[in-house]
Amino acid sequence: MEKMIIEGGYRLVGQVPVSGAKNAALPLFAASLLVERWNTLQNVPALTDIRTIARLLRQMGVKIEGESGTVRVNAAGVHSCEAPYKLVKTMRASVLVLGPLVAKWKRARVSLPGGCAIGARPINLHLKGLEALGATVELKHGYVEARADRLKGAKIYFDISTVTGTENIMMAAALAEGRTVLENAASEPEVVELANFLNKMGAKIQGAGSDVIIIDGVKELKPVEHIIMGDRIEAGTLMVAAGMTQGNVKLLNCNLSQMEAVVAKLREAGLEIYPEGDGVKVIGPANIKAVDVKTLPYPGFPTDMQAQIMALMCLASGLAVITETVFENRFMHVSEMRRMGADIRVEGSNAIVRGLPSLTGAPVMATDLRASASLVLAGLAAEGTTEISRIYHLDRGYEKLDEKLCKLGAKISRVKE
Ligand code: EPZ
Repeated sequence: MEKMIIEGGYRLVGQVPVSGAKNAALPLFAASLLVERWNTLQNVPALTDIRTIARLLRQMGVKIEGESGTVRVNAAGVHSCEAPYKLVKTMRASVLVLGPLVAKWKRARVSLPGGCAIGARPINLHLKGLEALGATVELKHGYVEARADRLKGAKIYFDISTVTGTENIMMAAALAEGRTVLENAASEPEVVELANFLNKMGAKIQGAGSDVIIIDGVKELKPVEHIIMGDRIEAGTLMVAAGMTQGNVKLLNCNLSQMEAVVAKLREAGLEIYPEGDGVKVIGPANIKAVDVKTLPYPGFPTDMQAQIMALMCLASGLAVITETVFENRFMHVSEMRRMGADIRVEGSNAIVRGLPSLTGAPVMATDLRASASLVLAGLAAEGTTEISRIYHLDRGYEKLDEKLCKLGAKISRVKE
């Protein structure tokens, strides 16, 4: 295992590209199971999670050329419809193969994901949706066993807005007979990206980006080429990095229209954020203002940016209340930040952050993907050296983040633990 060593106190200055979106790429890999021809995905980020879903698809018999950048995927050779526990437990997004497998290959045996650091994260709504489409779904020995000769369109209400639940059922309904209406559907940009991808393949999907999505099933889909959208969470993370170091950074491949809640809050905190030429300029303030944040499904403030904005609030002047409404255990970065001198008190789903003039570097431990990002951010601004262990969490969802930050002037190295 590796750990990251960060010398804090360096301003970030320069230009940095935002990579392809992890949470858009993963469903697009799964959607490739819907056609027995070559799909071409471009702007695929080099991430552990991408390598994991590629491994899962390959062992099903899917042919995959490439690991990142331009990747070609062909599901013609599928001989197994199983997603084994050993892979699903490392990446719960593997459950995204469930919908396409049942729709196209009539059966699926997918391990239940099991627990996750940030919450229970059940998939009951995924299964409810598949049953509504006519699949028989059984739970046996820790696996979901689903089958259907031909799925039939249905009206499905999601009790909770679920991103991958919406994506799973949208993919399944694309090949179902008749019309499916998803109500209280997730409206995240990554859901819209998947709908656009499926429509390019010949699906008939309307309303993606709203909370009602209508899918008219078709008999067959065709292969496509697609350039994956930029990662709005990486972009938000890089903005906070500029905000914490009084930086002056220009982000490339950053779509502000997908980041309105994040940009609004960062501007309230004193960052200057504006389009400049082919990118987005972010200027960190001398004084960071404390702002309250409440995470919500899109278009609200994304839970995936909660840990990162908490790092910024640790250096703000005043008291910030950060409320996490999406996951029940997404404050594990708090105890690590406290080791760096942060003044944070957790009361239920609220974290009360009293901003301080500075943080001090310390040995800390990454616990999950976004928590690890927040510790990198804190390390950039802290006085002295920060050592982050279990940095593999970061590599799941950020492409060469330390290299990108070093190009902007940060002092970061990696060593074997
Ligand atoms: C997606 O996870 C993202 N992952 C997560 O990003 C993100 O945090 C999350 O959406 C919320 O935006 C991918 O897209 C691969 P949910 P997902 O289903 O779909 C409950 C990251 O850091 N729920 O929208 O698994 C669930 O427990 C990751 O990149 C049910 O109760 O999240 C949670 O409380 C972390 N039953 C809430 O809904 C279900 O069947 C939202 O979860 C499904 C979900």
